Amino acid sequence: NKVVLAYSGGLDTSVIVPWLKENYGCEVVCFTADVGQGVMELEGLEAKAKASGASQLVVRDLSEEFVRDFVFPCLRAGAIYERKYLLGTSMARPVIAKAMVDVAKEVGADAVSHGCTGKGNDQVRFELTFFALNPELVVVAPWREWDLKGREDAIEYAKKHKIPVPVTKKSIYSRDRNLWHLSHEGDILEDPAKEPRKDMYMMSVDPEDAPDQPEYVKIGIVSGIPVSVNGKELSPASLLSKLNEIGGQHGIGRIDMVENRLVGMKSRGVYETPGGTILYSAVRELETLTLDRESMQLKDMNALKYAELVYAGRWFDPLRESLDAFMEKISEKTTGSVTLKLYKGSVSVTGRESPYSLYREDISSFENGDIYNQADAAGFIRLYGLPMRVRAMLEKGI
Ligand code: ARG
Ligand code: SIN
Repeated sequence: NKVVLAYSGGLDTSVIVPWLKENYGCEVVCFTADVGQGVMELEGLEAKAKASGASQLVVRDLSEEFVRDFVFPCLRAGAIYERKYLLGTSMARPVIAKAMVDVAKEVGADAVSHGCTGKGNDQVRFELTFFALNPELVVVAPWREWDLKGREDAIEYAKKHKIPVPVTKKSIYSRDRNLWHLSHEGDILEDPAKEPRKDMYMMSVDPEDAPDQPEYVKIGIVSGIPVSVNGKELSPASLLSKLNEIGGQHGIGRIDMVENRLVGMKSRGVYETPGGTILYSAVRELETLTLDRESMQLKDMNALKYAELVYAGRWFDPLRESLDAFMEKISEKTTGSVTLKLYKGSVSVTGRESPYSLYREDISSFENGDIYNQADAAGFIRLYGLPMRVRAMLEKGI
């Protein structure tokens, strides 16, 4: 008899409010999370929610929690979905859904609802989080139930129920924004052969228009987690905003891809992840000093599975948590700093330093030293190559 709705103030979620009241006869509590989608979207929201018929609007600032507990673990893990996607939307759904479960408890709601379509990944991510954190909650997904087909139907429904149609003009793209990224899907992007229009991008300038002067940025990292920018310590969310600003100015982090959705279909998406792209390069680079060959290999293999679980909405799955424990342990010594050069859309590494560096100039140098004796290599190669030799002997009848 009381439902908590993930609410954005857009047309879809505004229509869901009266729809829930009409079809489920319940009180609707709207919930909006601030995960850094931009202040604009939060202004005047309470009045809007009430005008649609909600009994109240609950707003929570989840920015720091989002970056600290969801974004940074994925970064430390090096999780990338299908070679390119830095998981921006995938990371945000569980933090929002978790807060909804908390709010449901606080206001005594027995149900939760979201405005995701029945064709996407987001519905799965919301609902798996609800299942994991409170299996007793009833989940209502209007898009899978009602017969409104699109925007026109929704406007019609709003008028019929005398709720104001949000004035925010609908963009042609389906977008999702948070502190980590901005995603674009739909409209002309639905043809994977077509280049996105220049005016679609919002977090980054076109690399062609970026400054002609490169900019250097130094990232401080402790145990695989970034802590400072150019020597200045910052909270997780402010560190990320700072890098979004710097990266965006240089056109960093645009990704255009076709991905496999969990529900089986392929979809074309374009992502802007300026700060995130800088951070992924930095952490990966520091690992070249702090991880040995096998550790790096196994970490990369597990990163693939980690990314898959996050993409699929299985954040609160013990499997992801166990992989995270592995990532935490293996990143223990990934501490130090990396200097990167940003220039017209590219991030290149110019230096890395770590107190736990496994790199030793005295050993690696071409000068002869005591620890590495070149004469040892002869025996090593003979034994290492023994199976290859045996096979060749067999083939040649020796
Ligand atoms: N395809 C991306 C993902 O599944 C982005 C989804 C964007 N969601 C949205 N409601 N516009 O993570
Ligand atoms: C949606 O269908 O609600 C957005 C796209 C997605 O979830 O993948």
